Amino acid sequence: MSKPSKRAAIIGLGGQGQAHYAAYNGVEDVKVAAVCEISTERLVAFIDENPDVRGYTNADELLENEQCDILSIVTNTPSHADLTVAAVEAGVSAVLCEKPMAHSLTSARQMIDICTAKDVRLAINHMRRWSPRYHQLRDMLKNGQIGEIGSLVYASGGALFACIATHIFDLMRMLTGREILCVSGRFDTFRRPNPRGAQFHDPGGHALVQFEGDSRAFLDLSENLGVPSWFDIHGSLGRVHIEEERRIWQVFARQAHDREQPPWAARNTNQPVELAETHENWTTVLSAGITELLGDGPVNSSGEDGYAALEAIVAAHISHENGGVPVALPLTGDDLLREFTFT
Ligand SMILES: NC(=O)c1ccc[n+]([C@@H]2O[C@H](COP(=O)([O-])OP(=O)(O)OC[C@H]3O[C@@H](n4cnc5c(N)ncnc54)[C@H](O)[C@@H]3O)[C@@H](O)[C@H]2O)c1
Repeated sequence: MSKPSKRAAIIGLGGQGQAHYAAYNGVEDVKVAAVCEISTERLVAFIDENPDVRGYTNADELLENEQCDILSIVTNTPSHADLTVAAVEAGVSAVLCEKPMAHSLTSARQMIDICTAKDVRLAINHMRRWSPRYHQLRDMLKNGQIGEIGSLVYASGGALFACIATHIFDLMRMLTGREILCVSGRFDTFRRPNPRGAQFHDPGGHALVQFEGDSRAFLDLSENLGVPSWFDIHGSLGRVHIEEERRIWQVFARQAHDREQPPWAARNTNQPVELAETHENWTTVLSAGITELLGDGPVNSSGEDGYAALEAIVAAHISHENGGVPVALPLTGDDLLREFTFT
């Protein structure tokens, strides 16, 4: 086998950093040459298992000593922007940054601007953007399989709102092709301890969202829900039901002449529509994202997409602080400076 021509590095070796490592191993022409982790214990454990990878405890040292074609930033959100800027200044050609993209909208914009200015390819790991299964669904919706998209409803128990909602806002934008106009949010008063440390704050909560084109969404990530994720999309001619953990993907659509009826007529005529098997998992999907980022085509999970998801989260917080009032996007002024300690 020929030697991989591209060199990768990963900063942050928590569970998700390990997931990035596995995904790089699934891409032919790239090799993870170096990793950085501030926890010596985590770094040593990783290097013991992967002795051909060089280890650092300081990201600046890694960037100074290693020439990387691609860098994964898999630390917690507050350090994403500084590390992206440092990577671009060190000459990295592509950055794959974890979500939520940044701790403020100003920082997220700075990441996009510096990457654009220096011609660095930037992707945010909203990995469903690289999933063949979700592509299939997006194409079905675009082709009108379930008609006009009316509502999208997502629920998942005991969640950290920003941590999960960033994926879901992004997924809803991808599937509908529509932008978010307005967000109302409420956050829980009960706070389960943040699993990534007491320095982080990302309470559960719920949000009501208005999209362009009269679509609306409800996301419930409240801490008192005890259910795994559940996602429904309702249209004028059918519906979609997804439970990722149980690998349930169902599309139901009106058939033949029923499709000519108005939405309120001929109820319960929906029939299942087959989805093709895609044999994917989160590792193969992330490998597809890495392959895309190493190429020179369009980036399907861009910095702008990451910004849009973060903006909806910030809007939900502003709404909560104001009694749940609807907050219109785009956000401007001081709202761009608000800082958060999401993980
Ligand atoms: N896309 C997904 O589906 C998905 C899934 C899980 C986590 N994530 C995201 O990935 C990121 C990491 O999540 P995790 O679960 O691995 O968290 P974690 O807290 O377990 O791991 C983060 C690691 O980064 C290290 N770190 C922090 N700052 C550093 C720095 N400046 N230099 C080097 N190392 C540093 C920490 O010591 C820690 O080991 C978060 O942004 C999280 O939201 C994404």
